[in-house]
Order: sequence, then C-alpha cells, then structure tokens
Amino acid sequence: MATNASGFFTAPTVPSQRRKIQHSIRIFGSGFPFPEGISKRVFCSSTFEGAEKHVGASASESRSPKLVSKGCKLIGCGSAVPSLKISNDDLAKVVDTNDEWISVRTGIRNRRVISGKESLTTLAVEAAHKALEMAQVDVDDVDLILVCTSTPDDVFGCAPKVQKALGCARNPLAYDITAACSGFILGLVSAYCHIKAGGFKNVLVIGADALSRIVDWTDRGTCILFGDAAGAVLIQACDGEDDGLLSFDVHSDGEGYRHLNAALKENETDDELGSNGSVLGFPPRQASYSCLQMNGKEVFRFAVRVVPQSIEYSLAKAGLPASSIDWLLLHQANQRILDAVSTRLQIPSEQVISNLANYGNTSAGSIPLALDEAVRSGKVKPGHTIAAAGFGAGLTWASTIFRWG
Ligand code: ACO
Repeated sequence: MATNASGFFTAPTVPSQRRKIQHSIRIFGSGFPFPEGISKRVFCSSTFEGAEKHVGASASESRSPKLVSKGCKLIGCGSAVPSLKISNDDLAKVVDTNDEWISVRTGIRNRRVISGKESLTTLAVEAAHKALEMAQVDVDDVDLILVCTSTPDDVFGCAPKVQKALGCARNPLAYDITAACSGFILGLVSAYCHIKAGGFKNVLVIGADALSRIVDWTDRGTCILFGDAAGAVLIQACDGEDDGLLSFDVHSDGEGYRHLNAALKENETDDELGSNGSVLGFPPRQASYSCLQMNGKEVFRFAVRVVPQSIEYSLAKAGLPASSIDWLLLHQANQRILDAVSTRLQIPSEQVISNLANYGNTSAGSIPLALDEAVRSGKVKPGHTIAAAGFGAGLTWASTIFRWG
C-alpha cells in the first residue's frame, strides 16, 4: 500500500459493504502513526468492560489493550430533525423580510426549530440509533462517541448525556467537539485518528446543533439562515484495503473570529455584586452568551475562497482528480456558496448534495443530515467517493475525501 507525502494511504480498492469488524485485520502491519521499530500495540483505558467496574476500578483494572487498525470506513448514518417547521412566510411575520429575498439570496425555504420536549440530546440520540441500526452495530459495541456541537444542552458538554440516553452499558468514552459548522468534519478526522492511533473500533460521530437557541430572532440578517438538526455516522475500524477515509485537510484562523461569533458577555447589571466583596473585582460578574453575530458578506467571501482550496488539497493528498468524485457534500450554508464552490471545482450541479431549502443552515448537523438523506434516497451508494467540507465560526474550515460504505 502506497502512502503519499502526508502519510495518507492512497489508491484503495472499492470496498464491499462489510458490517462487522473483520477478523483478518492485521494488527501490527499498519505503520501509519509509528516509525519502524516502535511497538504498534496501544493500550487504551477509555472503555470500561462493565458498568460495575466503573465504581472503584483502579486505573490498571480498567485498562484494556487495544489494537491499532489500518483503516476505517463509514458504514451507517442517521439523522433527526425537530417536528416544528418554520417557513419563510412564518419568519416574515416576525422580522421585515419575505420569501423571495430569502430564497433568492440563500436557497432556504423552510427550517426546523426545536420545541416542547425536544432537545439537542433527543435529536442526537435519535440520529445515533438510526446510524447504529443501519450499520448493524450494537450500542454496547460502540467504544467512542464524539458529539460535534456548539449548542450543547449543558455548557460542560452533552456527549456523556447522549451516551447515557443511548443506553451504552459499557460507558464508552464520550466527549464534545466545538467547532461550529466545521464540527462534523473535525469529528470525522478525530474518529480517524482515534481508530488509527488509539485502537478504537466503533466510533459514533454525531453532528448536532440547535442554533435557534442563540439566534437573535429580531435580526433579519441572521435569523433567516439557521435551523436545528442532528446527524450521525458510525465509523468502524477495518483492514487497510477497505480504508474509506482517504484524506483530510483542516484549518483555523482566529483573525476571522470577529466575523462570526457568539461571545460570552458580562452582565452589566451585576455592578454592585462586583464591588461588595472584600477583594476588589471579586466575585466576578455573572456572564452569559450573546446571540450569534455575523458579518454575512465576509463569511461568504471567506467560504468561497477557502473551501475550494481545501478540497483541492484533500483531493491531491488522496491522489484523486475532482472528476473522480461522485458527490460534493458541503456544509449547507447558502446555495450560492454551494454553486460557487462546485463551479470552481468543475463539479456538475447534479453531483452537488443540497437540502438547505428544507432545513437551512443546521451548523454541525448539516453535513451528516444531508449525507443521511442522500444515502437513504439511494443517491449515495456503497463505493461512491465523496468530497466533503465544513466551514464557519472560529473561523474554521476542513475538508475530507471519503468513500461511503
Ligand atoms: N430580508 C430582506 N432584506 C434583508 C434581509 C432579509 N432577511 N437581510 C438583509 N436584508 C437587506 C439588507 O438590509 C440590505 O439592505 P440595504 O441594501 O438597503 O442596506 C440588503 O438586504 C442586502 O444585504 P446584504 O447583507 O448585503 O445581503 P447579502 O447578499 O450579503 O446576503 C447573507 C446576506 C444571505 C447573510 C449572505 O451574506 C450569506 O449567506 N453569507 C454567508 C453566511 C454564512 O454562510 N454563514 C455560515 C455560518 S456557519 C457557522 O459557523 C454558524
């Protein structure tokens, strides 16, 4: 198996849709993360063998040897959206806008917004169950859950809540990844690294966001864009020739932070509290997050500049021309961004996956939601090659070339 300059495996064959870990995985042959001569056996303490071991288990007891695999493949997906649908006409009753302006400038016609008992966790769990069902993987065989979100139900993270709600008896490692609309791609990359270097076998990557919670519903420049959703993918360790994650490219630029953020701000009514303590400035003022602030024009320019570059870079790393791509799957932010990127890459519009007319920009949920719809409708088939890219707050952006199934 050849590797390119970045160490990525190249030129894998079209995989068969195998559901279970193959017994033929050759455990010491990878060499991907390790120079010659260094042991390739990895010890990992992330997964407890039984819930009873959780209490009182020493570090050594909970430590179970894991084996480094040579590849990983995406074998199941699922998604969930809230039941409440809000059309452009509904929004026109709240802010000074209209269906024509929104649909012409963005391609968006409807979005879903959480209500009632729905939460980020309920959406994430529904999406994850569907992904596990498609992958035919038992919930107790999941050994890592990554929840990519910028709007968790709890500021400390919601992945452990998702783990609990899924009913994982073995308490797999579960943690959040915060990278806004790039979150899901960074989740895929993290899963890849955990599988290749950490010995994890079944990784659930969930992209879920409820930006409706942080949008200013009086700001017509932003509130028309966003909706809530969750999508999930099950990534499984596999033998090298079945490797489905062919390459990736990841970036951040804090300089662009000012164009898109939802920053913590001190509560100005807390002045008295701040000066009453015996220590000056203590206790600190209470703080809360402000609504999403965005310079739409700058974010638009940024996206159409960096996304094609990043995909071209990922294609080069994978050793593939753009013409070999079956589908372009971008973060669903604006139809005009999708059109500009596909034109630059010379990918025909029929090969561009787009569902933002129905859901708007669902942040980290958008790529797995669109993937799930495309897989379930039969558009995306096992063996298809997909170029995917996320971009957004941070600013962050990332792309990957992967093969489905
Ligand atoms: N309805 C009617 N008129 C509007 C609306 C609205 N909802 N919003 C703005 N306008 C008006 C403006 O006030 C302005 O009027 P003016 O010319 O009299 O001043 C006019 O329409 C044009 O406004 P622009 O902001 O220049 O419109 P633009 O063509 O740039 O489109 C948009 C705005 C849709 C937000 C676009 O800039 C965009 O999509 N940007 C990218 C956003 C994006 O992708 N964000 C990703 C976020 S990902 C994450 O991490 C969360």
